[in-house]
Amino acid sequence: MIYVTRKAHFSAAHRLYNPTFSDERNEAIFDKCNNPRGHGHNYTLEVTVSGNPDPLTGYVIDLKRLSALIDEHIIDKVDHKHLNYDVAELRGIIPTAEHIAVVFWQILEPFITEGKLYSLKVFESDNNFVEYKGEPVEPITRYHLSKTDDIIEHRDTQFA
Ligand code: NI
Repeated sequence: MIYVTRKAHFSAAHRLYNPTFSDERNEAIFDKCNNPRGHGHNYTLEVTVSGNPDPLTGYVIDLKRLSALIDEHIIDKVDHKHLNYDVAELRGIIPTAEHIAVVFWQILEPFITEGKLYSLKVFESDNNFVEYKGEPVEPITRYHLSKTDDIIEHRDTQFA
């Protein structure tokens, strides 16, 4: 088995808070990431595909093709966006790197037809990143947004 990785970058805003918490509790848990109008990160995404090299090409997956899939299905949707509001798949979800990784996996996995999607890493900074390998996780709560994009209520959404 060989593991092939493609890196990609995007810049986006987010705010971490839970609308069912008090302001004080949000502040205590999410600290600077709870800034009401959001804040930005330069994210790095690493997508690893596993498989055996094709005997004719020597490729597990053509990295040009993997790069194009990542751009089309992930980067073009999230780059220079506000993750709490602007991206349908993330809208209303608390946009931690953990949740972003799970959602990105669900978006990308069906398109990886050469080899298998093995791992997805989301770097929020040089020091902080998460890795997801597609294992089962609890359903992610999606909060309902009002027309003005204030989060006003919540409900559970079965994601996977
Ligand atoms: Ni942040």
